[in-house]
Amino acid sequence: MSRGEPLWIFGYGSLVWRPAFVHDRACRAWIRGHVRRFWQGSMDHRGLPERPGRVATLVAESDSEPGPIDRRCWGTAYRVGAERAPDVLRALDHRERGGYARLEIEIGLAPDGEEERGEQTVGGLVYVAGPDNPHYLGPAPLEAIAAQIAVARGPSGANAEYVFELAASLRRMGADDPHVFALDALLRQGRG
Ligand code: SIN
Repeated sequence: MSRGEPLWIFGYGSLVWRPAFVHDRACRAWIRGHVRRFWQGSMDHRGLPERPGRVATLVAESDSEPGPIDRRCWGTAYRVGAERAPDVLRALDHRERGGYARLEIEIGLAPDGEEERGEQTVGGLVYVAGPDNPHYLGPAPLEAIAAQIAVARGPSGANAEYVFELAASLRRMGADDPHVFALDALLRQGRG
């Protein structure tokens, strides 16, 4: 971000449905080169140290397991005015302190009608929890991930709710994400 320029933040997990920071624009957006995976442990939001939950992080496409992947990872891009950016980043650094670090990334904005006629890309930030952070859990069979999420709960609520909210938001924006939708389905089956 250059001085005086607005800041763009790409959200792909809880930031999709609960940004909780002031922004002047939100739109459907995508990034390339990464896939969303429930590979990050959560002990501060959706789990506890003795029973960690699992939340989303981004994994470089080349490091994800083989199989069909969506070439675009969809989420929500938020534009924050330059004057508010330092406060917003401070708050997000705090919220995402459980292993996430800022990464600069190119964000594709889907045309929403009003402001753009076609797709536009902007430079922005995303919070990613990489394999070197202490809470990283990494890959596991989907059933095992779902079983862990089903029983986890933390200060922000039930871990399953994170998956349900994310899946519902992605469906509303018409975005496909086989990993998220498969977890959503497994968790709903387990409920019945
Ligand atoms: C994000 O939503 O972009 C980061 C991960 C999270 O807070 O769930």
